[in-house]
Amino acid sequence: MVLFSGSASAPKATSDCIRDCFRDCFRDNVYPGLNLGAHEGRMSHSDNVSIRRFREPDLCQLVRLISETIGISYAEVYPPRAVQFFKDFHSEKKIADRSKTGATLVVEEDGELVATGSLVDGEILAVFVHPRLQKGGRGKALMKALENEARASGVAELGLSISLPSKRFYESLGYKIVEEKSRDVGEGQRLDFWKAVKQLPKS
Ligand SMILES: CC(C)(COP(=O)(O)OP(=O)(O)OC[C@H]1O[C@@H](n2cnc3c(N)ncnc32)[C@H](O)[C@@H]1OP(=O)(O)O)[C@@H](O)C(=O)NCCC(=O)NCCS
Repeated sequence: MVLFSGSASAPKATSDCIRDCFRDCFRDNVYPGLNLGAHEGRMSHSDNVSIRRFREPDLCQLVRLISETIGISYAEVYPPRAVQFFKDFHSEKKIADRSKTGATLVVEEDGELVATGSLVDGEILAVFVHPRLQKGGRGKALMKALENEARASGVAELGLSISLPSKRFYESLGYKIVEEKSRDVGEGQRLDFWKAVKQLPKS
């Protein structure tokens, strides 16, 4: 399965970047103890699935994954200026920075990055599953791995922001909404989201 095929409209620099990522990307560094093929029955179509930590050569693929997911999943529910806000919030620099200040995990499936999420300062953010693979258990498995990361680093209460399309997903994982938020993104458009928390049981 190829998620990131080049298209005529893709900027050349991006295509080059992705080609380089494919060349450099595939080394073994599987996230300890997690193999999604075994972990989630619904993903058993592939034997070659793992959650692992982000590595520098992943950056281009990760940027593309996040950008495509925002462009498809958020464009269905948010106004254009809110979609652009999300794209700016998840710029290449910010994705790279958060992988250094926190922990960024990726789901790699048959050699491609198909999902990601980060933990920074007790907060989970940038959880994205490629639209073609949503509702297949990847998001849930990723959240478990991020929660394990948090627990291992002594976090007792996790926080996160809930986007419009992810409300039921996070509620199903036990996150409780504590605040309704709405950001003015200009030209009369708004970006609505919620703040939520979850107490982590001690391991
Ligand atoms: C939200 C997102 C991360 C969920 O990942 P996913 O792989 O699609 O979710 P999963 O298949 O692991 O679903 C886990 C549970 O949530 C439920 N769920 C997931 N998305 C749902 C939705 N849109 N509506 C209702 N329930 C949903 C599933 O039914 C499942 O419940 P179950 O375990 O009882 O069957 C993914 O859909 C996504 O990337 N969305 C766009 C970006 C986004 O909103 N990210 C969140 C940033 S705040």
